[in-house]
This record gives sequence, C-alpha cells and structure tokens, in this order.
Amino acid sequence: MKVDVILGLQWGDEGKGKIVDVFTPHYDVIARFQGGPNAGHTIEFDGKKFVLHTIPSGIFHADKQNVIGNGVIIDPYILFKEVDTLHAANIKPENNLLVSRRAHLILPSHRLLDATYEASKGLEKIGSTLKGIGPTYTDKYSRSGLRVGNLCDSGFNSCYSSLKERHLEIVHQYHFDYKNYLIDGLPFDEYEEVWLDAVKRLKEYTFIDSEYFLNDCINSGQSVLAEGAQGTLLDIDFGSFPFVTSSNTITAGACAGLGIAPNKIGTVYGVFKAYCTRVGGGPFPTELHDSTGEHLRKAGNEFGSTTGRPRRCGWLDLPALNYAIMLNGVNRLIMMKADVLNDLEEIQVCTSYEKEGCLSSHLPFNLADKGIQPVYHSLPGWNSEPDVAGGFDALPKNLKEYTSYIETATGLPVDIISMGPDRTQTLVREEIKASV
Ligand code: GDP
Ligand code: IMO
Ligand code: MG
Repeated sequence: MKVDVILGLQWGDEGKGKIVDVFTPHYDVIARFQGGPNAGHTIEFDGKKFVLHTIPSGIFHADKQNVIGNGVIIDPYILFKEVDTLHAANIKPENNLLVSRRAHLILPSHRLLDATYEASKGLEKIGSTLKGIGPTYTDKYSRSGLRVGNLCDSGFNSCYSSLKERHLEIVHQYHFDYKNYLIDGLPFDEYEEVWLDAVKRLKEYTFIDSEYFLNDCINSGQSVLAEGAQGTLLDIDFGSFPFVTSSNTITAGACAGLGIAPNKIGTVYGVFKAYCTRVGGGPFPTELHDSTGEHLRKAGNEFGSTTGRPRRCGWLDLPALNYAIMLNGVNRLIMMKADVLNDLEEIQVCTSYEKEGCLSSHLPFNLADKGIQPVYHSLPGWNSEPDVAGGFDALPKNLKEYTSYIETATGLPVDIISMGPDRTQTLVREEIKASV
C-alpha cells in the first residue's frame, strides 16, 4: 500500500481536520506528521464540535489507529487537555492512539522562550501562537531537545533541569519578566507542575518506533493517511519567511515526519479554501481590508481555532495555489467553505502578479514587496444557498463554473466541495479510496 497525504495549500485553517475525519472510514491508520499544538483542527458531527491540536483527526473512529509521528512536537499539558475533552464525550484515545518515541517535547521553558523572542521583535513579531513551536524545533535542530522516548530514561529529570536552566538564562538575557508572564493562565512554576503531571499521564500511553510501525502497516496491506498541520505558505522553506512556522508542512515533511520513503507516497490531497485567510503577521497580497473582507470573516466564522484571533480574509490566490500544488505534488484538490461565498454578487480570483508592468504567474520571492500588485479575474457569484444532497450537477451554474475555472487554472480535479463545517456538508464527487 501507499501512504496518502492530506495537507493545507494556503496559510493553514483550510479545513484539514474536517477532511481527515471524512476520509478516516476509508483508511486503517491516521498519522500526524509535523507541527504541534499551534494547530487547531475542527471536526463537527452529530451536533458536537471538537478542536484537536495534537491528536490526529481520525480519533473519532474507535476502530482506526491514530499515530503521532516523529515530526510532531508534543506539549503533554495541552495533549491531556485534549484527552480530557474527548473523555468528556466518551471518546477514549488511550485505546487507539500511539505516540512516536522520536517526537520532541515542548517544555514549559520553550513556551517562555517563544514569548521572549516574540516580545523582543516588537512590531516585527510573527504573531506566533506562543505554544513554544519555534524554540522546540530549534532545540531539535541544535540537537539539544528532549524526546518522548527520553521520558523512560533514568536521567530524564536532570536533562530536563539542565535544558530548562539554559532556557531561563536566555530569558534573563532578554530581560523578559517571566515571573509575571502567564502560560495558559498560570505562572511558570505552577504551569511546570501541571506539565509534569501530564508527563506522568503521557508515560501511560503506548510509545512506538512509528517509522517501523507505519512501514510494517503498508507492507502488510494496511492503508495509511498522513495528516498535515498548518499550510504550505507557512512552510519553513517555502512560506512567507520569516512569517512562517518552524516545520516543513509540505509532502516532503510527511516523509521525514513519519519515516516514509518518497516512493511510498500515494495520492496527495491538497485542501484549500474557496478564498484565503491568514492569522498572525506577514504579507497577504489578496487581503481585503473592506466590507467584503469583513463579510468573509463573519460568514466563514474566521476566528482562530487555537488562539481565537480574527483571521485576515481575502480572495483566492492562484499563483500561490499553483506554487503549493507544485511543491506538494498534489494530485487531487479539495475545496472548502464554498458556502461562505454564497451571498456574493461577484467573486475575484488573483490570476497573476504585476511588477513594473510585467505579469508573472510565479509567487514572488518577497511577497511583502510594495511594488507587487495582484491581478484579478472576476467571476459571477451564485447568490443562493446550495445543498450538497443533489450532488454536483444540481449545484448552481455559477458555483460549478467557479469550480471548473479553478480546475482549469490548476490542471487538477476538485474531488470534494465542502459546504459547511459538519461531516455531512461535504459533496464528494469522486469515491474516496486509499491508494494501493
Ligand atoms: P484546519 O486547521 O485546516 O483543520 O482548519 P480549522 O479547523 O482551523 O478551520 C476551519 C474552520 O472552518 C473550522 O471552524 C471548521 O469547522 C470550519 N469549516 C470547515 N469546512 C467548512 C465549510 O465547508 N464551510 C464552513 N462554513 N465552515 C467550514
Ligand atoms: P492549522 O494546523 C493557521 C501561524 C501563526 C503565526 C505563524 C507562526 O490549524 O492549520 P507558530 O505558533 O507556529 O510559531 O506561529 O504561523 N500558524 C497557523 N495559522 N493555522 C495553523 O495551524 C497555524 N499554526 C501556526 O498564527 O502566524
Ligand atoms: Mg486550524
């Protein structure tokens, strides 16, 4: 079997969680491959709503195995807040969640460092979710981080203390007043206590060498679905640097973050919104600062799943979408939140960028360059509230045309059109099938 991949093609929050949940019945194993609790993946069904940060979005199907891969970074405290929410809904992740020994741990002091660095950047701040993502990946690459597998080492406590001390030294150097800084509402010392309690709970879970586990699965005919976090435009290499996250969010990240060889990758499903959003700082060329932008935010309920911050909204950016398709080797597209455009008379799509009179369909190196202007094509809206029940043919003509315009511009099929947050509000045009 091959490993199919679901990932985001924009600045995150495309609706990956909903789609992974919809795909889960067709797979045996769901594996998250990168990112950490900066992610917020929303799943809605039977009148219930869940937001997952670390746990893969396949967890609602008790008969499916879920894996937190080696590329993910884990904050035990946040993980167990998630677990407790699931327990309250009678879902028992301890029965179908495995954790890679190679996944790195987010320490309380990583979160202090995140806040320290952001504060030191002033107006240039990235708008980080302050979950400790950058500092934890930094420690991974500087070869000083702690991994889940280290929790079982007898020397864990002293390694933890010396890493914490090194972090606190940096915090002092920056004169960051950490004694008055609250992490999830708690002063550092109290947060550290609840974090250590969560570490004890984590040790009761099954730790695995997920690279062996997943390769054994595919060799024995089990289907694996890889779940990405964030989006391609937040990728550390190809995103709008430095306003990015600290991991490779692209398909290559699925290989490294799960231990899957590139020739084992099957279908890559690229998830995109019918428009664009971004939360946090950084350039966003098609951003709307007018009433249409406000309308999209309201109609799309565009407020961050992790931080509650309002998301910036704008038109679909085709050069950016095609860039993401190229980097990820996307085979099939999934268009989300088409319903958010229901009330619009006219919809704009950025088709190219203009600089000094020259047009280019490439995404510019510096998206913040003031000399760059997006060039738009206008399409008529559908001005109605379509229902997914009638299938694609029964959709309003202008929505079908909007979809085929994107298919032509990208050269890829749009297999799924999502028309609402619930599982059932999903129009599936092509049967979902794991790659063999
Ligand atoms: P993710 O991080 O990619 O999983 O996406 P988020 O969960 O952060 O953000 C997507 C938001 O849109 C969530 O609130 C979803 O419940 C919601 N959503 C997903 N698909 C649709 C859709 O087709 N229409 C509408 N209106 N909302 C959707
Ligand atoms: P999901 O998986 C949207 C953004 C932050 C910030 C930048 C860096 O839900 O799509 P970080 O905390 O990684 O240091 O923040 O990246 N960001 C996201 N935006 N969705 C996400 O995840 C994000 N994860 C990080 O807002 O601008
Ligand atoms: Mg999200």
